Amino acid sequence: MKVFTLASELLSIHQENPHRKIAFIPTMGALHQGHLSLVEAAQQDGCYTVVSIFVNPLQFNNPEDLKKYPRTLDIDLQLLATQGVDAVFTPSIDEMYPNHVVDVTVDLGPLDSRFEGACRPGHFHGVIQVVYRLFQYVQPHVVYFGEKDLQQCLVIEQLIQQIFPQIEMCRIATKRESSGLALSSRNMRLSPKGLQTASALNRSLLAIVDGKADFCEVIKREKVELTKMGFEVEYLDCVSLPFLEELPCEYFQVNRQSSRFHCAVVVAARLEGVRLIDNQVF
Ligand code: PAF
Repeated sequence: MKVFTLASELLSIHQENPHRKIAFIPTMGALHQGHLSLVEAAQQDGCYTVVSIFVNPLQFNNPEDLKKYPRTLDIDLQLLATQGVDAVFTPSIDEMYPNHVVDVTVDLGPLDSRFEGACRPGHFHGVIQVVYRLFQYVQPHVVYFGEKDLQQCLVIEQLIQQIFPQIEMCRIATKRESSGLALSSRNMRLSPKGLQTASALNRSLLAIVDGKADFCEVIKREKVELTKMGFEVEYLDCVSLPFLEELPCEYFQVNRQSSRFHCAVVVAARLEGVRLIDNQVF
């Protein structure tokens, strides 16, 4: 496995593999099975697989979160080597953000001000800056992102549509513990009891998607239940895709069976001070 720290070194990937499809998986490290499922998907597609590890300061609106973000580079590199990844890019902050570089602008429409955009001002601007640079450096043919960060996927799809139409986007389904808890680097900050409790988030999503009872009622009930369990719920809503419009519950109730209607239930909640997000697309 090749490990590169300089963007200029990445050119050799294309020079040495002129006939391979280059797949790219950007990460911030602290890798888990969720990341590895993206790697597996790229490998199954027969791609030369490049992973980046870079904790991007620009996307943290909370400096405490940035400080606490787990950094496990040696273990990550071992994991990726065992997984048979072809190349890893681990740039420094100066390599990613040299002084003279100007910010890129992508029109995210309402995605920037809804849900994660509203709760974490500046977050998607930071994601766009780093992913734009990474795409330029790696020049992938195809990129893999996890659906757990659904809104991030939608934002990246806008970046691709507007600036990199030659790149193919692959969204990979959320990897979960047997309890249903979505895998996340943040889970390691939960206590054993917190880990158990956290699986209730997915149960709530499934209860809503299930559609056996009235949407509006189930959403209200699940918010109350999660709060009783110790969650501070930031949002739990049904939204339409791709712009996460909040529509009246009755609308979902009526349209949920239509094959032309793409929507999701999205949730963000804090437990033991750890902010967790999840979703179910249906
Ligand atoms: O999903 C992540 O880990 C990050 O937001 C990403 C896409 C690697 C950009 O820093």
